[in-house]
Amino acid sequence: MREWNSLSAMAMSEGGASDAPARIDPSSYFESSIYIAELKGIFSKTWLPVGRVEELPDLGSYFTWERTRIPTVIVRSVDRQIRGFYNSCRHRGAPVVRTPTGRGRAFRCQYHSWTYDTFGKLVGLPDERDFGNFSRCAYSLVPLQIAEFGGWVWIDQSGAASPLATVLDRGDASMAAMEQHGFSARKTFKVRSNWKAVIERLGAGDSAMEAVGGIHWCLPNSLFAVASTRSVLLAAWPLNERETEIELVLAAAPEDAGISLDSLHSDLLPLLDNIAGSGTEISGDNQQAEQLAALWSHHMGPVAQAADAI
Ligand code: FES
Repeated sequence: MREWNSLSAMAMSEGGASDAPARIDPSSYFESSIYIAELKGIFSKTWLPVGRVEELPDLGSYFTWERTRIPTVIVRSVDRQIRGFYNSCRHRGAPVVRTPTGRGRAFRCQYHSWTYDTFGKLVGLPDERDFGNFSRCAYSLVPLQIAEFGGWVWIDQSGAASPLATVLDRGDASMAAMEQHGFSARKTFKVRSNWKAVIERLGAGDSAMEAVGGIHWCLPNSLFAVASTRSVLLAAWPLNERETEIELVLAAAPEDAGISLDSLHSDLLPLLDNIAGSGTEISGDNQQAEQLAALWSHHMGPVAQAADAI
């Protein structure tokens, strides 16, 4: 796993030979065009943890996910494999799934009733003869690249990201320990701050997460704290250029099943306070933007440079 403190080294190697970190434009913290570019150029091109495998317990269990504003649906197909698709009907693009979670053997688009199985294949449509020489197999749902590791489901919306195994250190025993944990609780809350500023606060709050377990950063926006019997994901998802949703997910081994997010609060509270402290809105004439840009340049150079390059 790429740890937080190795990111500056990555910045050096990916950003050129200079000893000085590249400077990031402060507008990266409040410009809507940068936010849109980050969605396309960063979040849509890498592996993102979207849920626990236990959240898909049965054949046909599904959940929808669109934190990067691209609607997707993740499903446990009838062969027990987990698959992901763009949640967009191949007829006219309407969502094929409209409820956040559920279970079914097929997805039926409510617009004109095209129906897909859990493999994404088009299996039914009304008045098929009216379409002439129609080939159903050319109209399957568009699949996402998907992977499982540490009990998490990961998606890559581009289909072109490097294999997850090369992004994460699968040899790290503590990350692998998450596989033994089961989904316990999820909380989300919104802060009024650009997501990158939130990440800075997460970095400053490492010690609070360390009270839960060993820290693992996962670019671009996720922090895992992993212990033998419990793990916590803290992720910063951009809602727009000025607001971020923090997602907190707790997973626990059976012997630690009584643990709850509330009981972790005394450990996590300093970190959450720290994050809440990032609620200061950043504007063009705010010195804080300059300071954050400098910090961001140092710690998260590759991500921010990518944003600058888009
Ligand atoms: S848009 Fe889905 S059936 Fe027409």
